[in-house]
Amino acid sequence: MIRTELCEMLGIEHPIIQAGMGPYSTNSLAAAAANAGALGLISTSGLILGATQAQEALTGEETGTPYELLKRLLYRIKEDTKDSKGIFGINCMVSAEFTAQARDIIQAVIDVRNEDAEMRERLKVIVTSAGDPLPWTETIKPSGVKWFHVVPSVRHAKRCERAGVDVIIASGHEGGMHVAWEPVHTMVLLPAVVNAVSTPVVGAGGFCDGATLAAALALGAVGVQMGTRFLATKESDFMQMWKEQILKSGERDTTVARGIVGPGRYLKNEASLELTEITVKKAPGLFLGQPDDLMTVAPEVMKKELEGFAATFAGDEKKALWAGGEVAGRIDDLPTVKELIDKVVTEAEEIIRSLPRKIGGRK
Ligand SMILES: Cc1cc2nc3c(=O)[nH]c(=O)nc-3n(C[C@H](O)[C@H](O)[C@H](O)COP(=O)(O)O)c2cc1C
Repeated sequence: MIRTELCEMLGIEHPIIQAGMGPYSTNSLAAAAANAGALGLISTSGLILGATQAQEALTGEETGTPYELLKRLLYRIKEDTKDSKGIFGINCMVSAEFTAQARDIIQAVIDVRNEDAEMRERLKVIVTSAGDPLPWTETIKPSGVKWFHVVPSVRHAKRCERAGVDVIIASGHEGGMHVAWEPVHTMVLLPAVVNAVSTPVVGAGGFCDGATLAAALALGAVGVQMGTRFLATKESDFMQMWKEQILKSGERDTTVARGIVGPGRYLKNEASLELTEITVKKAPGLFLGQPDDLMTVAPEVMKKELEGFAATFAGDEKKALWAGGEVAGRIDDLPTVKELIDKVVTEAEEIIRSLPRKIGGRK
């Protein structure tokens, strides 16, 4: 059993976070992860972008505002995790483009926790990402929910400390989907952030097994957040063809191209390579560390990406855009979420126990 500050803070068994991953709302995944003793996260980017899947996942035909839909979804996850008393949270992008929607999503969590005592016990975390944490302090801090924020750099991590964030998630450039304009990978980013702040840090980007969990702990993290690895599990809400593409991918089979909220890492296929080519021509700032925004980015880039998302929902394998991290190259099975989590922590424990034998040349 590996217990860290993250486990103590949240009352979870294992120092593992199942990442929020849009466009799906990761309902089944979050419930399965919470039931298996990790922190399960519901992704809200589908709700923010108005993706119908998030709506249909609730009760088939049900419609409503993102605020109403998320509230219903949270009560459903509470029901799905009631036997294990699993701990869950939500991921919400707070990039400038989606401030109004993010406000509704965060308010839904705060309201649900205020109206239901069990929610206060088990809906414990808001993970914000893809934006500046500072403007959210006044909304999130007084509510008592634990606040995690995802960062790609030491500078951003220091901003999180100013904002009063409880846990910083340092996300390296090898991670799936949202990556930073400046590419810094986990092996450099994670220890740099740990050394720069006194807030607990979780590593993200490239984690998938016991060895990588043990490495994160060695680098000073209190746990790991895994996205791509959880995507490729039996319970994951993602399409079978997406999961299979992860199994087929080697470590060089991802590409970075312009996404809706900045650079995104996709599994290589015809559509993602075309998007990369358009990005090189029309939004080269992405490869030069020069951010553009929705007002300045070439419309062709956005059009191509939106077509890719539509094709994904339509099940069009050729044109679909599938996000995924470099770690896809290390994934070759589709376990249940519980099998995965149990294996990761058992392996990590074995590795950590074996390390003293490596000191001083002893076998
Ligand atoms: C398919 C996919 C969708 C993602 N969507 C989101 C999202 O909506 N919001 C977000 O903050 N991060 C998103 N991420 C990033 C994850 O939350 C996580 O930080 C990342 O997957 C970690 O790297 P890994 O894939 O190497 O585990 C996504 C990742 C993937 C693979």
